[in-house]
Amino acid sequence: MEKPKNKQETCAYVMVIFGATGDLALNKLIPSLFSLFNQKKLPVNFSVIGFSRREMTDSQFRNHFENLKNKKGWDKFSKILSYQKGDFQDKNAYLELIDKLELLDKKYGDCITRLFYLATPPQNYDVILDFMEDTKLSKGVGQNTYNQTKIIIEKPFGKDLDTAKALDQKLYKTFKEEQIFRVDHYLGKETIQNMLAFRFANGIFEPVWNNKFIDHVQITFAESKGIDGRGKFFDGVGILRDVAQNHLMQILAAVAMEQPISFEREAIRDARAKVIEAIRPVEPKEVGEYTVRGQYEGYTGEKDVEPDSKTGTYTAVKLFVDTERFRGIPFYLRAGKMMPKNSVYVSIVFIQTCHILFKEYGCPEIGNVLTIKIQPDEGITLRVIAKKPQEKLALDTVNMKFTYKGEFGGEIKDAYEKILLDIFEGDQMLFNRSDELQSSWKFITKILEGWEMQLKSSKWKMPKYKKGTWGPKESLDLIEKDGRKWIEV
Ligand code: BG6
Repeated sequence: MEKPKNKQETCAYVMVIFGATGDLALNKLIPSLFSLFNQKKLPVNFSVIGFSRREMTDSQFRNHFENLKNKKGWDKFSKILSYQKGDFQDKNAYLELIDKLELLDKKYGDCITRLFYLATPPQNYDVILDFMEDTKLSKGVGQNTYNQTKIIIEKPFGKDLDTAKALDQKLYKTFKEEQIFRVDHYLGKETIQNMLAFRFANGIFEPVWNNKFIDHVQITFAESKGIDGRGKFFDGVGILRDVAQNHLMQILAAVAMEQPISFEREAIRDARAKVIEAIRPVEPKEVGEYTVRGQYEGYTGEKDVEPDSKTGTYTAVKLFVDTERFRGIPFYLRAGKMMPKNSVYVSIVFIQTCHILFKEYGCPEIGNVLTIKIQPDEGITLRVIAKKPQEKLALDTVNMKFTYKGEFGGEIKDAYEKILLDIFEGDQMLFNRSDELQSSWKFITKILEGWEMQLKSSKWKMPKYKKGTWGPKESLDLIEKDGRKWIEV
């Protein structure tokens, strides 16, 4: 006789995606759900309701995913997608959504986890949360299911420290912490997770991972694309809030955190939170010395961008992490759109200590550099100095290289697949806790204040850069005035 299935295994999941016709759903959420479906990793009973302003039928919504609809498995998968037209300001739309959800409740019974995914521009979060509370949409269904409602909220979480705190307060009015999933998909990237294994599982790196051996750290987040038609979102946000406050901070945390006391959820989150809190503030009056921003030429002509917009599409920041391990070591961070290539990486540049014996044989100016390539061509390279193969003694640098593809084969999965699986399981380790977010906002908000002050000064002009270059000239000055250079990978 067939073993009866564990009730938990057959429990259903219903995901409501607010902003379901937007960029995130189109490029990340639905493709990742589809991929999980093909790998048989989606819960057996699973439905998605897209909620957006646009007038659409269920079938038009399914056809909206042009680049997926000819792929194997799509016909079967797309049956789980349905659509609810709704203006986020209109209470009736939420009531109609509840009717739809109740039909699914009847189909699935009482064991349902409802997942509400806020995939809209952040300015809509308040009104959506208000109506969720007002209409009791947030309460879940059936008996005892209050705790099984989860709210998933995309970055940027707020616009600055105060708005991030206010958003938390609003969430706490309705949800408990274990129901809240604050997404930063960089936490789900394989290569960022590997940084912890690399640092703490290999005994040879830990002893040199400190200010006695490291000269400085560089983090580069370069994208060759521009804002890709996302003017409505991007112009109100800018690159500092879009990727620096979150993705760059998470990369920095993986480089600089202390060893967590365990690999349990709260231990990892504690270690991340501590290191972000230890970042020395850049005071508003210091932004000229420690930060750069820039805008690519032609940005103000993009769709949905203000013609006189002062939003940055490039930023570079020099900062210090005041922990015993990293005291005095500069971290140079840069992020930009319309860069010469797509490349996200960290370079740990070690102090150059060419032994006195070799000085006269041409010691390279920069010696050991450990580069962790987050994407593409995920992998790790260690630059070492070697003797050139010739009779006379001469030195040069060479790379020792590991790539994921070369060693493990296959493609690295999109981080959203990991993020979604963790949401189903209720595992919050790779989601932001509010204290780490607040620490990073504390740091970013002072820079934003300094930039506001610059804007008010009649002398200040937004530095511009040509598309396909590494940002404005000022970004070179930021690092070169310290006698260092950006490393290009
Ligand atoms: C998003 C930003 O969070 O990350 C985008 O809003 C950016 O502007 C994207 O392009 C980069 O993510 P990935 O996974 O493609 O590196």
